Order: sequence, then C-alpha cells, then structure tokens
Amino acid sequence: MNMEQPLLELRDVTKVFKIGGGLGLVGRRLIRAVDRVSFAIPGESPIITALVGESGSGKSTIARLILGLLEPTSGVILYKGRDVRSWLKSDRVMYRREVQVIFQDPYSTYNPFYRVERVLHMVIKKFGLASSEREGRDLIMESMRTIGLRPEDLLGRYPHQLSGGERQRLMLARILLIKPKLVVADEPVSMIDVSLRSIFLENLLDLKGRLKMSCLYITHDLNIAHYVADRMIVLCLGNIVEMGEAKSVVGEALHPYTRLLVRSIPIPDPRRRWKGRLQVEDITFRGFQAEQGCVFSNRCPHAMPVCKEETPPLIEARPGHKAACFLYR
Ligand SMILES: Nc1ncnc2c1ncn2[C@@H]1O[C@H](COP(=O)(O)OP(=O)(O)OP(=O)(O)O)[C@@H](O)[C@H]1O
Ligand SMILES: [Mg+2]
Repeated sequence: MNMEQPLLELRDVTKVFKIGGGLGLVGRRLIRAVDRVSFAIPGESPIITALVGESGSGKSTIARLILGLLEPTSGVILYKGRDVRSWLKSDRVMYRREVQVIFQDPYSTYNPFYRVERVLHMVIKKFGLASSEREGRDLIMESMRTIGLRPEDLLGRYPHQLSGGERQRLMLARILLIKPKLVVADEPVSMIDVSLRSIFLENLLDLKGRLKMSCLYITHDLNIAHYVADRMIVLCLGNIVEMGEAKSVVGEALHPYTRLLVRSIPIPDPRRRWKGRLQVEDITFRGFQAEQGCVFSNRCPHAMPVCKEETPPLIEARPGHKAACFLYR
C-alpha cells in the first residue's frame, strides 16, 4: 500500500434524507444529515480519530456511509484510494474483513440463539482463519484471554447471559480474530456501566497497537474522545466545524461551537456517571440552523454579518488544527 495514500478518505460527502409526506399531515422535508464532509484517516500509522458531536449531528450516518449501509447523495468515500461502492461490488469479503464495526447496542450484532463460541466460530469460518477445528478453538480461547475474558466462564453462554461490558469486549475478541485495518466504533461504551468503560477503552488502545489498526471512534462524550483519540473531528449539524490533534481541539478549541462543548464537559469524576448528552442548551437546536452561512451563526456569540451570508471554509488557524470559522480568516 502506498504510504502517502490515506486508509480512508471522505471527499465532499453529503447525505440528504427525504422524510415526511405521510397522510398529508406533514410536508416532505429534506434533512442534510451530512453536509460536504471531507476528512482522511492516514495510512502510515494506526491512529484513533474521534468523531464528536451532539445527538443528530450526523455521526452514525457517516458510520453507515463508510460501511456501505447507505450511499452518499453526493461525494465519494475512498478506502485505500478506491470507492467503497466498488469494493463492495468486487471485493466485498475483503472489505467486510478489513473494515469492522462495533455498534452501541451489542445485541444488534449477536444472534440471541447463538452461544458465544458459535459467534466466534462463524467468524473463523467466514474468513477462513483456521485450518482445523482444533486450531479454531485455540484461536478463540487465545483471543478471549487477550481481551481478559475467561473462556472457561463464558463459552457455552448466550449473549443475554453476558453483561453489557462483556458483550462489547467479546466484540473486541472478535476483532482480534479478524484483524481488520479499520474499526468504526459507534458509541461503543455508552450503554455500559462507567466502571467498565475504561476496561473496554484500554482493550481498544491495546488492539490499536497490537494489530496496527486504526479506529474511527464515534462519541458525544468529549471526555472519552479526549482520553482515547489521537485526532478529533467536531461535527455540528452535519458540518465539520473543527479538526486537529485531540489535545489541541480540547485544550485550545478554536470554533465557538467547540468552545461551548468544552465548557459543558463536567468535571471528570470516574465515580460519577455523566448522563447528559452534549446538550447545547436544548435539543431543538436543529430548528435554529441557519438557512445559509455558518450552521452555528444563529447561536454564535461572535457572529459577524459575513457568517450569515457565506459558509466558512475550514481554515488552518494553527499547524494541523483547522476551524470552519471566519474569526480565523
Ligand atoms: N434513515 C433516515 N431517514 C431520515 N432521517 C434520518 C435517517 N437517519 C438519520 N436521519 C436524520 O439525520 C440526522 C443525523 O442522524 P444521525 O443518526 O447520523 O445522528 P447522530 O449524530 O448519530 O446522533 P446520536 O448521537 O443521537 O446517535 C438526524 O436529524 C436524523 O434524524
Ligand atoms: Mg448515532
């Protein structure tokens, strides 16, 4: 693989959903869930890129576009320089192996009638990871132990007989077997108890090094993003407003929207569960979306006339740290 070439690249990706029109009660409406989003995950060394934004900002839509579960309305998604649509047409199995996903709800991934060993065996069979039954069994035991799951306790159980934390870590054992190049993790710890979150995150960081695997880590929780990620992308209503090194984005936020998010981070206290999503005043935020110009202009304390007229491009305000804001022009 060409080292200069990104592992994954989104170029001007837009996804518009058409909704409504039912019973004539509501008019048809268009939702720009993802609006001309461009970013790349580099290919040379494994990194974790956090995709951060409040509820409805388009995070899961981006995940589904990358996985090929949705098609972009416009723009293109390239994996190793080639359109994902083309991968799925001619190298589907390879793409499905190299790009793995962990969803928020571990139940959505498990067949409730399959025991733990069957879940892992299916992976071994599908991707031809072992040449014998025996070898397959050894691989399963080894991968579970590496993640800190005791096979002697868990094999033979059904998914509902595991804790939420165990179910998500079983996904990591599965990933250890598959050895993907990229994992898209969509809020993987939001349904598990705070005390178990750090174990999952430590395991994920370990896999990143062990497998040289990159990760797009989707979360609304800036604390988690800051803890786990190397780089960070901040989404506001389907638009990237800021991106850069995770430490700079949190420590020296540029965009007024990111600053608002950073200020709403509660004091980190591992014993206390932070229940809130990123609530920027209230959830009717979408209603405030500006018709044109910057998506945040109606709420921005620094809004200037130009912000209501033109869409700010991503401007490199500091080396490697960009913000879509006219304050930095
Ligand atoms: N299949 C769909 N049809 C119509 N609208 C959709 C569809 N999927 C998502 N949307 C809309 O697109 C926007 C972005 O949704 P998305 O699920 O990507 O947000 P999110 O950032 O993942 O939010 P959350 O943090 O709540 O998971 C929302 O306004 C949502 O209602
Ligand atoms: Mg989501």
